[in-house]
Amino acid sequence: MSFDDHIELDEHDPLRAFRERFFIPKQANGDDVIYLTGNSLGLQPKRTREYIEQELDDWARLGVDGHTHARHPWLPYHEFATEAMARVVGAKPIEVVAMNSLTVNLHLLMVSFYRPSPARRRIMIEKGAFPSDRYAVASQIAWHRSEPPALAGGQSAKPVELSANRPPADAGGSDLIELAPREGESTLRTEDIIETIEREGDSVALILLGGVNYYTGQAFDVEAITEAGHRKGCIVGFDLAHAAGNLELKLHEWGVDLAAWCSYKYLNAGPGGIAGVFVHERHAQSFDLPRFAGWWGSDKETRFLMRPEFVPLGGAEGWQLSNPPIFQLAALRASLEIFDEATMPALREKSVKLTGFLEGLLSEIETDRIEVITPSDAAQRGCQLSIRVRNADKTLFDAISKRGVIADWREPDVIRVAPVPLYNTFEDVSRFAAILKKCIGE
Ligand SMILES: Cc1ncc(COP(=O)(O)O)c(C=O)c1O
Repeated sequence: MSFDDHIELDEHDPLRAFRERFFIPKQANGDDVIYLTGNSLGLQPKRTREYIEQELDDWARLGVDGHTHARHPWLPYHEFATEAMARVVGAKPIEVVAMNSLTVNLHLLMVSFYRPSPARRRIMIEKGAFPSDRYAVASQIAWHRSEPPALAGGQSAKPVELSANRPPADAGGSDLIELAPREGESTLRTEDIIETIEREGDSVALILLGGVNYYTGQAFDVEAITEAGHRKGCIVGFDLAHAAGNLELKLHEWGVDLAAWCSYKYLNAGPGGIAGVFVHERHAQSFDLPRFAGWWGSDKETRFLMRPEFVPLGGAEGWQLSNPPIFQLAALRASLEIFDEATMPALREKSVKLTGFLEGLLSEIETDRIEVITPSDAAQRGCQLSIRVRNADKTLFDAISKRGVIADWREPDVIRVAPVPLYNTFEDVSRFAAILKKCIGE
């Protein structure tokens, strides 16, 4: 593999025209940056402005009547994103809704699906899960145990260990299981995850893993984990922040109970963009589940009769609380239309090649300063490669940043790079690898 291979690879890339649909940030000298952080914030589709402006325009022209008379009426507006979003994650439309932001949605789903009993009260996550997920599950555990003091420690402005890892007063053992890699390894082995589920599953109420771990870039075997969890009677859910729009997902077919994801990474819906939720069809009519209710989750026919009783909608929509942010949904629509044109199978096919090309070039750099910790098996990763830097030497990251590379540094010692098939080229990858090689040699 050589740096010049990008020429042929780009020439034969059937998706290459999609780059033109995005704004690529510029360096001071006017050149495009080498943007490799679509796993953090996806780039802006050029048509996003038009979609948002249409809503601004309808608001200016119509005021409140826009709810019913806008070109895309605001009352049912979230529905305009549903089908395309469902296609991205392999779901039925009834299983998906765009609402809120990711951590909020994880909490709302746990209100319904984390139902601890004395015998089955634990939550299983991956060690090194995104901190917000850990805070969310730990605070849910503490809340179910009526243990507010652990959270109140925040008043002292000191770091607080949420009480999930302390045994409850009435029983031994922790309520939080964190799956850790084997000694000396950076990522989890599927067989170890399954074995732990088989061993501990009887006491586990909820398994909640990332679809792709934000730090290592490891993609988990959602289907196998879901199957194993269900065999033991657990509810199985996923945080798909780093998987939605990155991997080909089949949430319905795999039988996943619940999932949540954000739209500002691979889904390119803009900073703080509206998030997504999946609730499997088998729970669509489970109205006996506890849930936090709000009027947007209530029956559409009677919602405006302003009655005191809550009549939950079937499916994922029933978990909505508030009327949604139209400008954010407009941005999401603009982006999802591109996904519909490109299609996930084609994106994934290019992604495997793009990241494989990157991996190949990195493997040829003769150095012990860096090590890729993301699995080399394409089935166990998405776009991202996580490059661990020896001695956590951040100067390497600073050096590539100065040369026009936009990647990110994740503490303690990783540079994350994610070539995104919608807008990154093989040339981007080649230029990045050449810059990295040069900086390592300096
Ligand atoms: C895996 C994962 N979970 C949760 C979050 C938190 O997302 P939000 O701030 O939208 O709640 C992020 C943010 O990057 C994330 O990467």
